[in-house]
Amino acid sequence: MRGYEISNYITLCREITRLLSVYKLPNSKLSGVLTLTVSMPPLALFSFIFYALSFTHVSRYASTATAAEDCILRNSFQPGFVAEGDFIIGGIFPLHYNQEMPDQNYTYTPPPVKCNGFDPRAFRWVQTMRLAVEEINESTELLPNHTLGYKIFDSCAYPLTGQRAALAVLNGLSEADSPMCSGASPMLAVIGESGSAQSIVVSRLLRPFRIPMISYFSSCACFTDRRKYPTFFRVIPNDDYQVKAIAQLLLHFNWTWVGLIRGDHEYGRFAVQGLLRELQGSSVCVAYQEMIPLLYNTQRALEIMQVMRRSLAKVVVVFSAEGEMTPFLRDYMKQNITGIQWVASEAWVTASVFTGREFYPYLGGTIGFGIRKGHIAQLGDYLQTVSPQRYPDNVLVGELWEALYGCSPFPSSANHFPVCSGQEDLLKQHSAYMNTSSPRVAYNVYKAVYAVAHSLHNLLLCQSGNGPFENDSCAQSNNILPWQLQYYLQEVKFNMAGEEVNFDLKGDSVPYYDIINWQRGTTGSIEFVNVGLFDGTKPGGEELVIQEERMMWAGHQSEVPVSVCSPSCPPGSRKAVRRGEPVCCFDCVPCDSGKISNQTNSVECIFCPEDWWSNQDRTSCIPKKVEFLAYDALGIPLTVISVVGASLTVGVFVVFFHHRSTAVVRVNNSELSFFILFALTLCFLCSLVFIGEPTVWSCMLRHTAFSITFSLCISCILGKTLVVLAAFTATRPGDNIMKWLGPKQQRAIIFSCTLVQVVICAAWLIDAPPYPSRNTKYERSKIILECSVGSSLAFWCVLGYIGLQACLCFVLAFLARKLPGNFNEAKYITFSMLIFSAVWLAFVPAYLSAPGNYAGAVESFAILASSFGLLFCLFAPKCYIILLKPEKNTKQHLMGKEKR
Ligand code: TRP
Repeated sequence: MRGYEISNYITLCREITRLLSVYKLPNSKLSGVLTLTVSMPPLALFSFIFYALSFTHVSRYASTATAAEDCILRNSFQPGFVAEGDFIIGGIFPLHYNQEMPDQNYTYTPPPVKCNGFDPRAFRWVQTMRLAVEEINESTELLPNHTLGYKIFDSCAYPLTGQRAALAVLNGLSEADSPMCSGASPMLAVIGESGSAQSIVVSRLLRPFRIPMISYFSSCACFTDRRKYPTFFRVIPNDDYQVKAIAQLLLHFNWTWVGLIRGDHEYGRFAVQGLLRELQGSSVCVAYQEMIPLLYNTQRALEIMQVMRRSLAKVVVVFSAEGEMTPFLRDYMKQNITGIQWVASEAWVTASVFTGREFYPYLGGTIGFGIRKGHIAQLGDYLQTVSPQRYPDNVLVGELWEALYGCSPFPSSANHFPVCSGQEDLLKQHSAYMNTSSPRVAYNVYKAVYAVAHSLHNLLLCQSGNGPFENDSCAQSNNILPWQLQYYLQEVKFNMAGEEVNFDLKGDSVPYYDIINWQRGTTGSIEFVNVGLFDGTKPGGEELVIQEERMMWAGHQSEVPVSVCSPSCPPGSRKAVRRGEPVCCFDCVPCDSGKISNQTNSVECIFCPEDWWSNQDRTSCIPKKVEFLAYDALGIPLTVISVVGASLTVGVFVVFFHHRSTAVVRVNNSELSFFILFALTLCFLCSLVFIGEPTVWSCMLRHTAFSITFSLCISCILGKTLVVLAAFTATRPGDNIMKWLGPKQQRAIIFSCTLVQVVICAAWLIDAPPYPSRNTKYERSKIILECSVGSSLAFWCVLGYIGLQACLCFVLAFLARKLPGNFNEAKYITFSMLIFSAVWLAFVPAYLSAPGNYAGAVESFAILASSFGLLFCLFAPKCYIILLKPEKNTKQHLMGKEKR
């Protein structure tokens, strides 16, 4: 067992022994019970004994009083303040925030736990309770003719000592008036305790006696279990609301990477649990969770600070109270860690212990949710009435003086403070005690006392025969049982300074918080500035109201601190979670092309709709670029070349026409030459159809016009080749062959050869004509306007037919290439056909692999190249002779028959 557990146990045994003796159990039985229960955990053991005893206790109320002489109090624990009255209520307050465990060597009765660290704030709460009781006693409306009394004990902010206080509240002050032994007025309700851990213990102690308790500061969500804590009420909102508010605050400021620190108590445990539940599925992640040990230990605290220092989480949420925060912050300040933005829970966000000017560099800017404040008119004056003169025997008043003035009005050997008169003035500057400008917890205490008073008042108003209890009975005013008061507490509803006070079925009250920001006051010390509120009764999303402009942040900064694991991803990129790390730690990856993200921190990039594409930054979709072979860098040269080609052809035509009577023109079958030139002109021009935006008509025209003109052209060349071949292969002059190849037949050949192509084209256009189409497959970011061939079979037939003609032509010309004569037409035809074939053979793979709009360019280019090939091979030599060597332009020379 750990130290405190042992002492816990010992105290328990002591208490049990005492209680058992109070209940007059013979000692022999007592030892039996103790051995039987020694293996149980302390609290279970305690509950067990209490259950065993509650029966006796309750029956006591019914039976007549037993002799007080039999009562022996084994230990006396004096209350801080007492007042007699018709109805007594208990008060338990953490008047000290530190304890010193007694030395336990089991050779002597262990001394009680010593409490250190006087808390003037809790002293103020005590005074508030006394004020409330006095007000009620003076009131003629509330509980007229009756007086309230109280017994106030110090819990020392620790469960074990809280338990001692609870037992003391239950017991009488001395054997004489111990309610356990006599029939004196019982304890009707308890105002307490502060910390949830203590309240749990107190509540378990009160439960068997069904004494209601109203806590003014225990906010733990654990108390909602009505079966476990049936007599528990509170005037502070349940922490479920606070963690909701903190989660919203974190989200509001985009603090997605935060640290959690808590004290080792129920309050911290449940609050952290609640916050984690609240943050689940949200964008906030918890970087670390640390716990300040119950028995403070610097080593552990330094480890926690190391974690804080290393982490990127600059925002740290702390569920703790002065008790453990004081030593922790002292060490924190020694470590000189800065840049931490504290988010304080309600337990310490208004704690005056930390308002000193030395705290500002480390705690300035702290933000948190403070419980609702109220106004208690008399409080300031009432607090000032407290003085050592008035309470000459009260140790607590002495300690208050020590805490406020550093001197002791009651000199004793135990303390080392200088002596003072005790007549010092309580001034506003003693804010730890005198700060009455915005009482929060004190206001809760005030409310709690009034709630009891109002319930009692209602109870006393009960008219017999009309009461809420069995057989419509009422409580007896001279013997009120605590559970009867509980009934009225559950029902109570009253107004206090415009605020309605009541309890829901779980004993909870209305969720309302102020947002408190720690700013530097005029004197350099910390001031709590109200910068917003959280109203849990408002519909979701409207609960939190923050006045950001009034906020001051850690490090005296006016800019919201950043607490993230990874900086946010700008639009155009998305989050990519790192494997094995929390979702808040991520990398940013740019969106793929065609996808965009237009928000920061996008989880996913979204596809652009069809015909839209992402812009350069991937932040928005823009219409895809539409491309086709336009009059641009590619279209203009092609146009120029085709126009130049056509003009050249026309030029040649003119030259030939002009020299039509000369040998070169005549020998070479002038009519066919003119045909070829005409066809070539068309060939050049039809490459123009490939340029410009494809339309239904231009698409249909493209392939057909080109194939027919080419067919015509090659047919003419074919005719020419045939003529050449025939002329030279005719063995005898005037042979038949020439007869069969007269001009008419030649025209017929040309016509029929071209007709075939025309028929193919007609079939193509009728059945499946080429049509303009939008190609998005080749390049996804662009729409390429192109002509779909419609039927590829027809397309390849058309090309094949031209190829066939060209091959035929080539073969024939090849056969004729060796024929005599200086001007060998066949040689040029062979050559031209070679070029032609080369161009078109190269065209096929180029065409097939050329992307969209380039296919048109490739085709157009092939047309131009082959047309130039034909033009040059067939006509350049002749033009050369006609224009530059007219002396060779004779029949003799051409036939190779002239003399040298
Ligand atoms: N709301 C806290 C609670 O319920 C307040 C508190 C008072 C506290 N005293 C404490 C929290 C001591 C931790 C320790 O417990």
